[in-house]
Order: sequence, then structure tokens, then C-alpha cells
Amino acid sequence: MNPVKRAPVTADEVATRAGSDTLTVVDNRTGKTCEIPIKDGAIRALDLRQIKVDEHDFGLMSYDPAFNNTALCKSRITFIDGDAGILRYRGYPIEELAEKSTYLETAYLILHGELPNAKQLEEWSYHITHHTFIHESIKKFLDGFHYDAHPMGMMISTIAALSTFYPEAKDIFNEESRRKQTYRLIGKMPTLAAFAYRHSLGMPFAYPDNELSYTGNFLNMLFKTTELKYRPNPTLERALDILFILHADHEQNCSANAMRCVGSSHVDPFSATAAATAALYGPLHGGANEEVLRMLMEIGSVSRVPDYIKRVKAGEGKLMGFGHRIYKNYDPRARIIKRIADQVFEVMGRNPLTEIALECERIALEDDYFISRKLYPNVDFYSGLIYQSMGFPMTMFPVLFAMPRTSGWIAQWEEMLLDREQKIARPRQIYLGHEQRRYMPIDERR
Ligand code: ACO
Repeated sequence: MNPVKRAPVTADEVATRAGSDTLTVVDNRTGKTCEIPIKDGAIRALDLRQIKVDEHDFGLMSYDPAFNNTALCKSRITFIDGDAGILRYRGYPIEELAEKSTYLETAYLILHGELPNAKQLEEWSYHITHHTFIHESIKKFLDGFHYDAHPMGMMISTIAALSTFYPEAKDIFNEESRRKQTYRLIGKMPTLAAFAYRHSLGMPFAYPDNELSYTGNFLNMLFKTTELKYRPNPTLERALDILFILHADHEQNCSANAMRCVGSSHVDPFSATAAATAALYGPLHGGANEEVLRMLMEIGSVSRVPDYIKRVKAGEGKLMGFGHRIYKNYDPRARIIKRIADQVFEVMGRNPLTEIALECERIALEDDYFISRKLYPNVDFYSGLIYQSMGFPMTMFPVLFAMPRTSGWIAQWEEMLLDREQKIARPRQIYLGHEQRRYMPIDERR
């Protein structure tokens, strides 16, 4: 279609176009109209380029800092309807997966598009379990970190370093190689995470136990001391597994975008995953549950909650763990997490901060400030309380997010690689700097 036309849009033209899947744009600078196809609820940004003032004009661009209204891909992995509070992986509601599935089965679903049959699940679990060991040299450079190094810093470095142990991972268009790196990444993340944790305690590393489940083995590598065989508490094992299911993917957020963007240069998946992990390290992404705990500790007692809420409403701070860019209804993951919290507290004892959290939620859900702004608890409001009760220090919270998100990142990366429309990510800019100017020798400068 050659979309550029001169002359204003007449009532007849408008009537003719009514009902067609196009967008008619009138450029008031030139008086030209342009008809742009609409597909899947979107126009192609490149179609705007033909809207020009004259032939020397570069063409119109859209300006969208932080990609607030830009779809960067077509995806078949995760569906979110923020207004309705819906989250689905490959069409399956998160509530059903949290109730009936396991993390490894959900990871298979996210990566392969379908739930595995019994044989496929057995093979998948076998391969992941048999890729949990890490090269002994990795232990050496973990030992080089300072005793109080943040575990996310250690994770980012060691994930990137894996690429040096598996140079064949560069063969990204080889399906067999991609599968192998997937086993390695999902299998080794818990080992790297647990080793980083043990390093910060100065404890010897506990090696993977292939007889345990994915989460059971993670607990083993974290908490095993002198016992010959570590036996994870089944309630805690299942609680952690559900938390992993809830964190497995969340479509095009900051870290998924980092994975796709860095991966679009065709770097190996270990380097791209290190970049995604770095994105998750930031307090606006993976660090919010830590902020929730700090806030609850600052409030200190149930009686001080009303005063804190008053200060939030006066603009003196935020109620951390409330609100979400996408969910303008209760975050479906928060509901599930609240249930898990009770189960974990039964085993570990009630986290004393829980009463404060419940009171914050009770008051906020009845208060017009929060109702009118559609501010509801998000996934982070209760997850930190659970992790703390299970014995994790706050610095491990983003690590517990990065581990299960690895399956989502790999799925996003592979979808990007196999999408023929994708190229190396290269956004445009609106240049507002200087025009060309003469280089001034240093003795002429003021
Ligand atoms: N407490 C009090 N007021 C809030 C909160 C909050 N937690 N969140 C938003 N608001 C207010 C804003 O001040 C604003 O008020 P105004 O209209 O009077 O100016 C209004 O609600 C809209 O807020 P925005 O900042 O436009 O909402 P946005 O969608 O951009 O922000 C965000 C979402 C960043 C999550 C925000 O709600 C927030 O900072 N929450 C606290 C931090 C948090 O819990 N982050 C975790 C998110 S989940 C995750 O990343 C895994």
C-alpha cells in the first residue's frame, strides 16, 4: 500500500474507511493523509517513516522512553491482563500451575510451549539434575570474593564466567547446543546461588544431591551441615517450588528485555543471562521485597501503621509492595503467596512483621487514596516475609528471583532468536545536542 495522499479527509472517505483495519493520519504540517495498517492491535512504527515534510526529511518516529507503549516482539509465552489480574504461562492460569504443577514442569512448559508427558518430564528432570555440578575452578574464583560480597554480584560474574567453560554455547543457531545450555543454566543456577550464600557465611560448599528434587536439592546445598543425608522439610520444599513457579516468567519486563536486547547481538546465552541477572539486581526490579521488609521494620509495630499510612498519603514515601505498572487489580501472585506464607509460618513460626503487613494491607484496601489509584499488594509484599522466615538473608532475595526466572529468560531469548522479524536491537534517538562546531585548542578555551 502506498499510504501517502494529499488533500484533507472528506466525510465520504471517512465513511469508506470505517470498519477497515487501518489508521488514517492527517499530517497537519503538509495536509497529507496517510493510511497505516493495524494488525494485532498495533501499527508498525516503521510505517510512520513514510510521513515526511519533504523528501529530505528522515520521516516520523514515535518517542517512547521506557517503552511504555511499544511492543518489541510478538510472543506466545506469557499473557498478562493487568486490569483483570490475570497471569498465564502458555495459556495456563498461574493459580492452576501453582496448585498442580512443579517448577521443573512449569519451566518445561514455558520453554517448550506444552506440558510434558510423563516420559518427557522424567527426561527433562534427569537432564537438569545431571547438570547441577559446576567446574571446580568456579569455586576458586568464588573464593576470591570478599566475605561480604553481595550474592547478586557473585551470581552475575559466575554466570558470565560459565561461557568460558562452554565455548560451544556460541553456536546459538544449533538446536542441540541451545538445549544443552538450557540444561546447564537451569541446572547450575541453584548451585551458584547456594555456593554464593555459603561463601558469605564462610561455610564449606555443599555439593548437589541428585536424589533430591530441584528445590529440595537447593535447600540441601544451602543448609546442609554435618548430617550425612539432608532431608528437606516437605512444606518448605513445596513452598519454595510454588514461589519458583510464580517467578518463572513475566513477559517483557526490564530483565527479559535485557535478555532479548543483549541476546540480539548473538552473544552466547550465559553472557545474555548475566546481563538479565544484572537488570534484576536493581531495586526497581528484583529488590522491592527487600524494601518491603525494611519498611515493616521501620514501622515497628501495628499501632504505628495508621501514622505510616498517613505519611504515605502525604507523599512522604511509598507503601512498598503496593502498586504495579501492569496490574491495576490484585496481583494474582500475591494472593497465592499469602497462602504459602501461612504454611511456612506453621513450620518456622510466625514472622513477627506479619501482623504489621496485614494491618497495612487492611487499612490500605479500605482507603480511598489506594482504591482510587488502584494500588493493591504485589508479588513482593509477602514474599520477603516468607524468605526471611525460611532463614534467607535479605541479600539473597533477588537471587531467589533470578533462579526461577532463568527458564523465562531462556524462553524469551530463544523466541527472539527464532523470530525472523528480529534483528540486533537498535533503537533510535531524538538528537537535541549541538550542531557541528569547530574543535577549539585548549589554550583558547575559557
Ligand atoms: N504507595 C503509595 N502511593 C503509590 C504507590 C505506593 N506503593 N505506588 C504508586 N503510588 C501513587 C503514586 O504516587 C501516584 O500518585 P499520584 O497520581 O497522586 O501522583 C499514583 O499512585 C500512580 O503511581 P505511578 O508511579 O504512576 O505508578 P507506576 O505504574 O508508574 O508505578 C510502581 C508502579 C513502580 C510499582 C509503584 O507502584 C511503586 O513504586 N510501588 C512500590 C514499589 C514496589 O512495590 N515495587 C515492586 C513492583 S512488582 C515487581 O517489580 C516484581
